[in-house]
Amino acid sequence: MKKITIAIDGFSSTGKSTLAKQLAKALGYVYVDTGAMYRAVAFFAMQNNWISEVEIAKDQIVKSLVNIKLHFQFNPSLGFAEMYLNGNNVENEIRSLSVSQNVSRIAEISEVRSKLVEQQQEMGKEKAVVMDGRDIGTVVFPDAELKIFMTASSRTRAQRRFEELVEKGQRVTFEEVLENVEKRDYIDTHRIDSPLVKAEDAVVLDNSTLSKEEQFQLVLQLVHDKLKN
Ligand code: DC
Repeated sequence: MKKITIAIDGFSSTGKSTLAKQLAKALGYVYVDTGAMYRAVAFFAMQNNWISEVEIAKDQIVKSLVNIKLHFQFNPSLGFAEMYLNGNNVENEIRSLSVSQNVSRIAEISEVRSKLVEQQQEMGKEKAVVMDGRDIGTVVFPDAELKIFMTASSRTRAQRRFEELVEKGQRVTFEEVLENVEKRDYIDTHRIDSPLVKAEDAVVLDNSTLSKEEQFQLVLQLVHDKLKN
């Protein structure tokens, strides 16, 4: 049976992970959430007080990369793998608004990127993988057989993220979340190392008006087309 690599990139809160999880489940593929890896590094730096509003202790973070051990562990009751940082499950912590507010600045550091990219390439070397992030189709797996680039308006995305956070019991306002989404878009698309750009051969998926099921069926068809050829 032919195995392919599926790269899903795009703006934050476009539902990349929802789609990636659906695809991985349907195809029996491994799902890798690369954003979780950047989030875990940001969380580690925050725990050590290496990130403040104004500055970030980049040298400390880079020096400590050897002490940051990341791995994913599949949780059968959830149906996907959770992020572990130095042996601790940090899945909840890394989804907080405070980590979201700091992570883009961590993702700008080239040394962090090269370490995480290397791990991602290792995780996906056997194919049969669905990986989501910002640079999967451009940097991590430029030869991926199927590349999807997801987008939606910033208000649509902020509304979705706001509802998710409120559901988890976090006290946030819609304006705060919108500001965070727009700020992250700016940093993600303007950073020097591997900015968020659409790979030339990626299929654009604007899901502002698509349901999760419609989007899933659409992409599943693209996968089947690739598997046939
Ligand atoms: O997908 P996410 O929102 O969980 O990603 C968190 C942050 O990490 C986001 O601001 C961009 C960054 N990121 C990245 O630079 N490259 C990736 N492959 C994945 C995420």
